[in-house]
Amino acid sequence: MYNTAELIDKLKTETILSRDEYLHLIKNREVIRERAAELAGSVCDGIYGKKIYIRGLIEFTNYCRNNCYYCGIRAGNDKADRYRLTPEEIIGCSDSGYELGFRTFVLQGGEDPYYSDEILSKVVRDIKERHPDCAVTLSIGERSYESYRRLKEAGADRYLLRHETVNREHYGLLHPDNMSWDNRVQCLRDLKELGFQTGAGFMVGSPGQTEEDLADELLFLKELRPEMVGIGPFIPHQDTPFGKETAGSAELTLFLLSLIRLTLPDVLLPATTALGTIDPMGREKGILSGANVLMPNLSPVSVRGKYLLYDNKICTGEEAAQCIECLKGRVRKIGYEIVTDRGDHKD
Ligand code: SAM
Ligand code: FES
Repeated sequence: MYNTAELIDKLKTETILSRDEYLHLIKNREVIRERAAELAGSVCDGIYGKKIYIRGLIEFTNYCRNNCYYCGIRAGNDKADRYRLTPEEIIGCSDSGYELGFRTFVLQGGEDPYYSDEILSKVVRDIKERHPDCAVTLSIGERSYESYRRLKEAGADRYLLRHETVNREHYGLLHPDNMSWDNRVQCLRDLKELGFQTGAGFMVGSPGQTEEDLADELLFLKELRPEMVGIGPFIPHQDTPFGKETAGSAELTLFLLSLIRLTLPDVLLPATTALGTIDPMGREKGILSGANVLMPNLSPVSVRGKYLLYDNKICTGEEAAQCIECLKGRVRKIGYEIVTDRGDHKD
């Protein structure tokens, strides 16, 4: 049988464990999670220092052609109040974000065919022209290789596309039949090939997820080597098929953040809004467990309350300037500092 304390030290030294070893840590996390957080924090400090990178999130459309069973803005939710930001509005958000010190903008939305490659390429070009010292990240779901190529050519630097689960059958439980795990993972490989700094990730505690799946997640991430990993707890949204399911736990999410940091030491790892939603101190605890990125919202307050992926989402009423002040204070209290450079991945 394994010695749990030795295993976590082994992960720190070797940055990889076997499936059984990861599984042992996950099952016995109670006795080891403080040590895991400590080690993850020190590994992160060694590479990035006590710096927290901020990314300004612009949620520019809540129209989506997909019907993921967990997601509040799925096409089938006819209670969702839909909106689209115009290119001028998106650029306006980046301008005001720039004034607030943001040097990365994340354009996120449902899979909304309204935003053609032409429209999006122009938005990306305009933002990069106005703010040449900034990075643009896209998070707009699955598109063709050619579409990704055009967006890269327009100047997009990074792309976030969570694979949602490593397990094909589990993917089938979370999504309708017209969506495919293979296509999603192929998109990730295409993005990497095209030179995007790429972010993969999954929800913690999504219906049907097992501890074995989580061990496989760590091996999958190790093999894929994304520059960014986004994980957050699954939180039910009342108007979805999973509305009555149980939310994922903050404690397990924090432990997995530590394991991800130890497995991919230089990864950019956000403490997500979903983590801050299930635990009021979730983002601080995330940082103390190995996360080094925060993604405050830059969307106009008038649409914030409409981009609801799950119930009780935090920060839907505050102006961006208020959010950033609040986060600066929270981060300072735990001994870290928000920095405003682009925060590229360090190899
Ligand atoms: N459409 C793009 C995509 O598919 O990547 C980006 C938007 S999508 C809403 C962003 C992420 O939100 C998803 O990858 C998913 O992991 C997360 N998400 C959706 N519903 C959620 C829920 N109920 N609880 C927690 N996270 C959720
Ligand atoms: Fe498309 Fe959630 S179902 S963004």
